[in-house]
Amino acid sequence: MKISAHVLEYAVVFLTLVLPSVLSAQAVTVQISNHTDSIQISKHIYGHFAEHLGRCIYDGIYVGEENTVIPNTEGVRNDIIAALKELNIPNLRWPGGCFADTYHWKDGVGPQEDRPTIVNRWWGGTTEDNSFGTHNFLNLCEVLGAEPYLSANVGSGTVQELIDWMQYTTHDGVSPMADWRRENGREKPWDVKYWGVGNETWGCGGNMTAEYYADIYRKYATFMSDWSNTGGVYRIASGASEDDYHWTETLMKNVPHNMMDAVALHDYAVFNWDAKGPSVNFDEEVYFKSMEQALKMEEYVTKHVAIMDKYDPEGNVDLFVDEWGGWYDAEPEVQNGVLYQQNTIRDVMIAGTVLNTFNNHAKRVKMANLAQMVNVLQAVILTDKEKMIKTPTYHVMNMYKVHQDALLLTSKIENNAQYRGLPTISVSASKDAEGAVHISLVNIDSKTEKAVEVNVADLDIKNIKAQILTSAKLQDHNSFNDPEKVVPNEFKDFKLRKGVLTIQVPAHSLIVLEGK
Ligand code: AHR
Repeated sequence: MKISAHVLEYAVVFLTLVLPSVLSAQAVTVQISNHTDSIQISKHIYGHFAEHLGRCIYDGIYVGEENTVIPNTEGVRNDIIAALKELNIPNLRWPGGCFADTYHWKDGVGPQEDRPTIVNRWWGGTTEDNSFGTHNFLNLCEVLGAEPYLSANVGSGTVQELIDWMQYTTHDGVSPMADWRRENGREKPWDVKYWGVGNETWGCGGNMTAEYYADIYRKYATFMSDWSNTGGVYRIASGASEDDYHWTETLMKNVPHNMMDAVALHDYAVFNWDAKGPSVNFDEEVYFKSMEQALKMEEYVTKHVAIMDKYDPEGNVDLFVDEWGGWYDAEPEVQNGVLYQQNTIRDVMIAGTVLNTFNNHAKRVKMANLAQMVNVLQAVILTDKEKMIKTPTYHVMNMYKVHQDALLLTSKIENNAQYRGLPTISVSASKDAEGAVHISLVNIDSKTEKAVEVNVADLDIKNIKAQILTSAKLQDHNSFNDPEKVVPNEFKDFKLRKGVLTIQVPAHSLIVLEGK
């Protein structure tokens, strides 16, 4: 059969121009139903991370006990404490990151005049005075109601140093370290359950091979104990980066599972480590590449979990994604602004989609830590002297907190739309202890609104309310002059009829619906 040039031309026009718009006009359908297993979305998925890096701790969280200009509690800014309390932050990881494998905790306790300085060799070479130490951090966690997650120094530390830290923080009885803690002003131990054994031990934590680290891990884990002997200690192995499946496989194979409560994973949304691009003045192409990278979290988690399932079908070892977030070029004008970046609607899209991935993998993913909490990377808070602002990512964490400890519902997207080949709509859903259903939806398409039809017939929903987080441009952000440019608003563009919830989801927007 001969096909005329005209027919071919029409076919090309249809396939490239007409068909995509017909498809994109079609509603995306989602089926949400009760899960056959009872899987709780651990509140710890909504965890945070604070490293001695740039202006995260010093000149960020901590302004010093002597500061009379910025209201503070034991040197920690009161405005930050209030903002974090609102987020219900479940845990906080400290002191690093790469910094952790250079940090010697004993230098950060006791009288200030006796504390040596430390040069922050990974982050800017600044000299720190060790004024923010173990007491400050653990007291801050108590004030926030967050569980501390201490990341121990394996790279340049010793087993003894770690077990002394455990004894210092958790032993109730008489012992050298507990007595020293009392001398330093703290009678009762703190409740410290989460202990990381090194950080990125394949890189800044010691450039080890997976096999070598597995042996080192076994040695450390052997001596780790919570000294009050309540059996509460939780040992976390330094994990893989992105798609390093060999790392996870080696740990799962070489470490007895009763010695390892969790394996970590780090994954940042970075498309080129040598040229990460600006945090605000990015174009559509860069936005696309960032989203392409952010959505890889789904693939990485799926594959690491598959390895863990193979070696540990009972699910005794958890996956902790204890560093994640968007990472761009630092803002040049900020003094000591190491890794200081702004935070836009692109970050809303990253946080929303990644958190949906974690929720949907809640069976194995039991903790995640956004990097980082204040003034560094995808921060929820930025400060400038007396001023503090909440970033768009702060609002995502606030809107998504409804999923903390709720029961996971299955969300099946049946015919997703495509944004330049990427799945456009991302969704996760849960039911809380009071029976309220929460559905979080993200449309990453930079330009096109999407109709989404959610079948909720399986759930008993009658009344719905919703909030939306979006803005006119992808680059919109909150600044010290305009701190409320990107904030959540009430959203009403949906209707519920015969068990189907039809929602018009605007371009680059994030919506959380509550159904009761
Ligand atoms: O979060 C910044 C750095 O990223 C951390 O110190 C390190 O663990 C990772 O490479």
